[in-house]
Amino acid sequence: MTKNDFTFEGRKIAFRDGLTLAAALEDTGERRLRYTAKDGQRGIFCGMGVCQDCLVTVDGHPNQRACMIRAKAGMEVCRQTALPALETAAQPLETATPEVIRVDVAVVGGGAAGLSAAIAAREAGASVVLLDERKTTGGQYYKQTAGDIAALDTQQAEGADLVRSAAASGARILSGTEIWGAFDGPLLLAETEGSAVVVRPKALVVATGAYERPVMVPGWTLPGVMTTGAAQTLWRSYRTTPGKRVLICGSGPLNAQVAVELAKGGCEIAAILDTAPHPGQRLGEAAAMALADPKLSAKGAMLIAALRRRGIPVRHKTRLLRVDQDAERLRAVFEDARGRETAETVDAVCMNDGFQPQNEILRLLGAEMTYDTRYGHLRCTRDRAMATTVPRLFAAGDCAGLGGAPAARIEGTIAGRAAAAFSQNRQTVDATAAENLALARHRRFQDHLWRVYDPGPQDIDDIAPGTMICRCEEITLAEAEDALNAETGHLGTLKRASRIGMGRCQGRYCGPVAARLVARRTGRPIEDFSFFAPRIPIKPVAISVILAVEEVLGGDED
Ligand SMILES: Cc1cc2nc3c(=O)[nH]c(=O)nc-3n(C[C@H](O)[C@H](O)[C@H](O)COP(=O)(O)OP(=O)(O)OC[C@H]3O[C@@H](n4cnc5c(N)ncnc54)[C@H](O)[C@@H]3O)c2cc1C
Ligand code: FES
Repeated sequence: MTKNDFTFEGRKIAFRDGLTLAAALEDTGERRLRYTAKDGQRGIFCGMGVCQDCLVTVDGHPNQRACMIRAKAGMEVCRQTALPALETAAQPLETATPEVIRVDVAVVGGGAAGLSAAIAAREAGASVVLLDERKTTGGQYYKQTAGDIAALDTQQAEGADLVRSAAASGARILSGTEIWGAFDGPLLLAETEGSAVVVRPKALVVATGAYERPVMVPGWTLPGVMTTGAAQTLWRSYRTTPGKRVLICGSGPLNAQVAVELAKGGCEIAAILDTAPHPGQRLGEAAAMALADPKLSAKGAMLIAALRRRGIPVRHKTRLLRVDQDAERLRAVFEDARGRETAETVDAVCMNDGFQPQNEILRLLGAEMTYDTRYGHLRCTRDRAMATTVPRLFAAGDCAGLGGAPAARIEGTIAGRAAAAFSQNRQTVDATAAENLALARHRRFQDHLWRVYDPGPQDIDDIAPGTMICRCEEITLAEAEDALNAETGHLGTLKRASRIGMGRCQGRYCGPVAARLVARRTGRPIEDFSFFAPRIPIKPVAISVILAVEEVLGGDED
């Protein structure tokens, strides 16, 4: 494997081909990537471009997400300070005239749903472009490897097959291309390597997946605390680990899967803390899950056996209380059902407490959403052809509501075929009977799976008042409560009074908590509140790209 180097704060960092800056830095133990306005330190957290806590300055350009940028030889990378734009901003990047893509079907997202949609739309005779922000398509379930790293298991190998089929279908695949704006039409605005792209499809399939819900405790913003999925990406895609000794917390099957994966990668897993009771106490649900999908349930049983074989302790009904910095390590304090406190000193704390759909594009375009009280997230209203309430707009996979990878594949196929028919003025094709049957089975499985685990949103009463609930603007629960005392109970007024949700991540983490706070304060049902409205740009974009797009759209009457 080729070795190159870049500098970080003047120190030479050797890296393997294909690694992101975040993975290369983690590989060498450099995990403090930026300073906040309140002197906090941050490192990678989500590992997937959502939290924007991994910002570094690269060759003089500030605000670059280390988890999304491939390391290149000779790069000069620095820790970012709170106000880099005033201190170190380089000249804006030159931006060429945007490419304007007119196509039958555009697909946003190259995961299980998006790749399947692109293949189906091509098979139905449509011209297709697929855009994905990551350098390699495959999405979160199929997480592909970087450079010449071999596939780890059948999950990655199956993903590689799907990626190959999408490429062979004749769809134009634009990876490394991030959608930052969406308007009626539909009209999509994207950035790829500093260049602007404008997409005008006749029909649009949104398949942007989900991101992880954290466990909000004091210290969850410290470098070394990251989502379980971020640790998984480090290992599955880049073959690096988040440290030697790792604690995993929250609730859900991903925590068990990643514990085994990291253990195979050489980590010592101090424990998995799960807020849910032991599955043995939910035998009825476990049996119903096995009936719905015996194969996936067997995979789950093998995972539990692997945890036992490797001696990884799983502590049920146990929740993380706080994480403290302990010299270069972290001290995680947790509490069991009897209120007994224990602490572990570890290199990394990983957290996953379920998922939130990435539905910003759907919401920008006005697709109807309903609040799912059980999962604590918004579900997109769709018909059987995956059409949303907005003409020409289809939604597939986890962005429309959590469903898992097998369901995402089927939904993608249905949506791609229907979008192709729509774009060619043909009658929309509904799902086949076999697809409907399979979807119903996968949804039944998911339903029981999340009854065995504990996906409910973290109870506000469990969050200590001093806990930062807005990572970006550094606002604690107590500060948000104070702001609510001064203002009438509405999400918008809470935002204006406290700045909660105004930061770079656009309220993706604090939004669900803020909505629950307002609901509790006003005594109104949570269903009455959606989260913070997404605002363009929904993803970071260089001002030069916005200006370049404006030039093209200025004279465009469409
Ligand atoms: C971090 C993480 C790890 C997971 N790991 C597992 C696992 O190991 N096993 C398991 O069973 N399930 C896992 N899941 C759940 C599983 O990934 C999903 O159920 C499945 O991937 C859903 O497929 P999808 O196509 O809807 O979304 P995804 O596979 O997430 O694909 C969505 C794609 O959209 C792209 N995208 C999003 N926004 C934009 C934008 N604005 N512009 C351009 N592209 C964009 C993303 O880069 C991504 O590639 C994980 C989920 C997450 C979030
Ligand atoms: S870790 Fe890079 S954006 Fe979250």
